[in-house]
Amino acid sequence: MKETILELEKISKNFNDLEVLKDINFKVFKGDIIAILGKSGEGKTTLLRTINNLIEPNDGNIYFKKELIERSNKEIRKFRTKIGFVFQHFNLISNLTVLQNVMLGPLKAKKLPKKEVKELALNKIKLVEMLDKIDSYPDNLSGGQKQRVGIARALAMEPEIILFDEPTSALDPSLVGEVMKIIKKLSFEGITMIIVTHEIAFIRSIANRILFLSEGKVKYDLKTDEFFNSKESTINDYLNIFVYDN
Ligand SMILES: Nc1ncnc2c1ncn2[C@@H]1O[C@H](COP(=O)(O)OP(=O)(O)O)[C@@H](O)[C@H]1O
Ligand SMILES: [Mg+2]
Repeated sequence: MKETILELEKISKNFNDLEVLKDINFKVFKGDIIAILGKSGEGKTTLLRTINNLIEPNDGNIYFKKELIERSNKEIRKFRTKIGFVFQHFNLISNLTVLQNVMLGPLKAKKLPKKEVKELALNKIKLVEMLDKIDSYPDNLSGGQKQRVGIARALAMEPEIILFDEPTSALDPSLVGEVMKIIKKLSFEGITMIIVTHEIAFIRSIANRILFLSEGKVKYDLKTDEFFNSKESTINDYLNIFVYDN
């Protein structure tokens, strides 16, 4: 039996009268690459932000390796270092260089000498193939390069799982491939990931499971092959829109 990294139990989230997530339940096992698919506005970002404790759910529990994440700031900070996040719009700090952006998290969170943090950061920057830009500032990078730095920053915390929120959707189409290539590389390293994306062909090639969100619920939780061979009309309607759009 594989180790459970995350478990969501009866998670719900409202924004005022709007019920965005309703009774969400699923587990993530070590090495899983899970895609969360669903139309715009279905709550995919809200779900990822809830997992990362950027949003507090109205109801339900999240367990990290079987341990309940309590709702205190200290606990939340503790778990946030274990759960990496790659944002749609990169969220790099513009007055810090690439190297400084990647070093910042571990410098704050890990009690390591600066020299070791630098070595760690350089390793991750190498993995995303950005060593030639370590002294550049984010404004002087392309979107694809910014996102690769965003990935290195998440990796530098050595998290147990990384959440990706539409990592390529803010990019010029010509830059999508370089970011997908890096995510694929991580998949070969056995890193546990949850990826929200509409890049269907890409996700089909790397995910082992697909969660399909609809009306605030996980409507389907299927192995990748089962999802793409499904005859369900909700799935087919979704695939028809996004396969041909991209
Ligand atoms: N902070 C917020 N306040 C109020 N409504 C929000 C907030 N964040 C998201 N929503 C609403 O929740 C719904 C789900 O949003 P979101 O999680 O961003 O969907 P997705 O990522 O699937 O496109 C949308 O209707 C959105 O307008
Ligand atoms: Mg979103």
